[in-house]
Amino acid sequence: MKKETYTAVVLAAGKGSRMQSKVKKQFMKLLGKPLVYYALLEFQESPVDEIILVTGRESIDYCRKQIVEKYGFTKVKEIVAGGKERYESVYEALKVASMDYVLIHDGARAFLDEEIISRSMKGVAEYKACVIGMPVKDTIKIVDKDQYAIETPKRSLIWQIQTPQCFITDEIRQAYEKMMAEEAKNITDDAMVMEQFGDRRVKLIEGSYENIKITTPEDIVIGKALLKMRRVKRKTFQWLRTLHH
Ligand code: CTP
Ligand code: MG
Repeated sequence: MKKETYTAVVLAAGKGSRMQSKVKKQFMKLLGKPLVYYALLEFQESPVDEIILVTGRESIDYCRKQIVEKYGFTKVKEIVAGGKERYESVYEALKVASMDYVLIHDGARAFLDEEIISRSMKGVAEYKACVIGMPVKDTIKIVDKDQYAIETPKRSLIWQIQTPQCFITDEIRQAYEKMMAEEAKNITDDAMVMEQFGDRRVKLIEGSYENIKITTPEDIVIGKALLKMRRVKRKTFQWLRTLHH
């Protein structure tokens, strides 16, 4: 049997307007590295076969020289210009994605890890369409237009959705093509495109509460703390290993 192959799409073509920063959030420095470096590093070190990086046309040169070449991200096959909306950026990447499966990831989610990538790859091979997410921790209310609570859905049935979002490349490309041919509205993730324009049910796979999207300024503080915690964990792990030798 032929080995199955995987494309990772890393999205970094947003404006980052909610961050209200001078430097676009995907390029803000976190412990000395641009934010999008962290997701690229995880995919570079994972078993995925190719990475497609999507960024603003004006940032392609910067990404190539200051990120991809500088850090030796040899799996990055192409850097493509994105669009105004997230789904337009995804669509540009799907045009050039060439492997069997695709893992679509927000570049602003810097804290995905080996396990999440591994669960994504296994998940899509088994279910053919899956997204990473976590059960919500807070109680969720549906409100009316005057902001009165009208319903409290059962918490165990509510998940917050993260990325990667994973599909058979040809299938999600076709779903996107259908959507682009019609009037696309309020599309906030790729699973929605599959739900509305494709034929697959989308399976939810557990991610982690660390897999946050850097969106507003306080997320930078949380992000730094998460990175530092990971450094300590890594050092402890290395130290434990030296004890065993
Ligand atoms: N993204 C993209 N192309 C767009 C919009 C978003 O590639 N036209 C990417 C972002 O760079 C980010 C991910 O999609 O990695 C998730 O989007 P979001 O967190 O909303 O980022 P922004 O759109 O940049 O931020 P904001 O909505 O605050 O402007
Ligand atoms: Mg956005």
